[in-house]
Amino acid sequence: MTAQSGPPTRSRPAAALEAAAHVAGHAPSVFNTQPWRWQLSGDTLELHADRTRALTATDPDSRLLLLSCGAALHHARVALRAAGWDVHVERLPQGDAADVLARITIAGAADADRQAERMAGAITLRRTDRRAFSDRTVPEELLIGLRRAVEAEGAYLHVVRRDQMPMLATSTARAADAESSDPAYRAELEHWTNRPVDSGDGVPAATAVQRAPRRVPVRDYAPGAVAGLSPGDDFDLGASYVVLFGLTDEAEALLRGGEALSALLLAATADGLATAPMSDTIEVQWPRHLLKGLLSGVGEPYLTIRLGYNDAAPDLPPAPRRKAADIVRISDR
Ligand SMILES: Cc1cc2nc3c(=O)[nH]c(=O)nc-3n(C[C@H](O)[C@H](O)[C@H](O)COP(=O)(O)O)c2cc1C
Repeated sequence: MTAQSGPPTRSRPAAALEAAAHVAGHAPSVFNTQPWRWQLSGDTLELHADRTRALTATDPDSRLLLLSCGAALHHARVALRAAGWDVHVERLPQGDAADVLARITIAGAADADRQAERMAGAITLRRTDRRAFSDRTVPEELLIGLRRAVEAEGAYLHVVRRDQMPMLATSTARAADAESSDPAYRAELEHWTNRPVDSGDGVPAATAVQRAPRRVPVRDYAPGAVAGLSPGDDFDLGASYVVLFGLTDEAEALLRGGEALSALLLAATADGLATAPMSDTIEVQWPRHLLKGLLSGVGEPYLTIRLGYNDAAPDLPPAPRRKAADIVRISDR
C-alpha cells in the first residue's frame, strides 16, 4: 500500500452510475417495498429484483414488483440523462425468469435534455397523495403530454371517460372487499404498514388517509388504526383517472410499464399535479378483467393513477426510504 492508497477512486461513468442508483431510491413502489438492489461492477450498473420483498399474496405474479423496479430504472435513467450522460440499457439480459432486470452502461456524454432535467427535478418532490383532489380539472393539453411521456416508454395511457367511472369505482370497491376478507392479504398489509422506524420502508399511518366516501375508493392502509391524513374538504371532482396499460403482461413489458409509470408521475409532478397510483383493481382477477373491459379488451391494464390538484392542502410527509448502503453494492472489477 502506498501513502495515497485508500478507497478505490471510481471512473466518472462509475461515479455517475452510483449516484443514479442512489437517486432511484426515491422511486414509488407497491406497499413501499422498494423491491430492488443495484450492483455496480466497474462501469456497469445492474438492477436486480429483490424477491425477498415480493408480496406473495397481493402480487403473486410479481406484476407490481416489476412495475416498481421499472420505475426505479426510469428514475436512474432520468438522473443520468439530466447529468449529461447517454446510456445504453439492456433489459432482462439473462431472460425473463432471472433477477437481473437491466444492465446500464454509459454510452458517452450527451447534450442537455430539458425534458430529462424537468423530470429529474421532480424526483424528490413527487409524493403519493391519498387525499381527495379539488374540483379543478386537469387540462386536456397536460393529459396529452402525459400520454406522450408514457408512449415514449413503450406503454399506453387510457383516460377513463365519465361514462366509465361507475365501472372503475365498482371494480375498485369489489377488489377492496375481496382483499379485506382474505387473511393472506390482511397479513401482508399488516406487515408492510407496521414496519420498524429504522426499516426505511412500508406505508406508515402518517401517509395513509382517513376513510371517507370517495369517487373511487382509496386503499385503506391503516385498518384498525388512525390514518395520519385527512381527506380534506374536496371529493376528487376534478380528478382524472388514467389506466396505464401495455400489450402483454410479460416481464419486459411490465418493466417498461414501470418506466412509463415513472415518466408519467414525474412529468405530472413537474406540471404541478398531485398523483396517486392505485393497484387494488389489478390485484384481484375479476376486477382486473372489468378494468380490461374499459380498454375495450386491447391490452393488459397495469395500474390506475388518479391525477388532480390539491393546491390548498399542506405538504405531505415523505414516505420512508431504505439506506442506499443496503441497496447499492459495489464491486470493483
Ligand atoms: C406498482 C405500484 C402500485 C401501487 N399501488 C398503490 C395503491 O393501490 N394505493 C396507494 O395508495 N398507493 C399505491 N402505490 C404508491 C406506493 O404506496 C408509494 O409509492 C409508496 O408508499 C412510497 O410513497 P411515495 O410514492 O410517496 O414515495 C403504488 C405504487 C406502485 C409503484
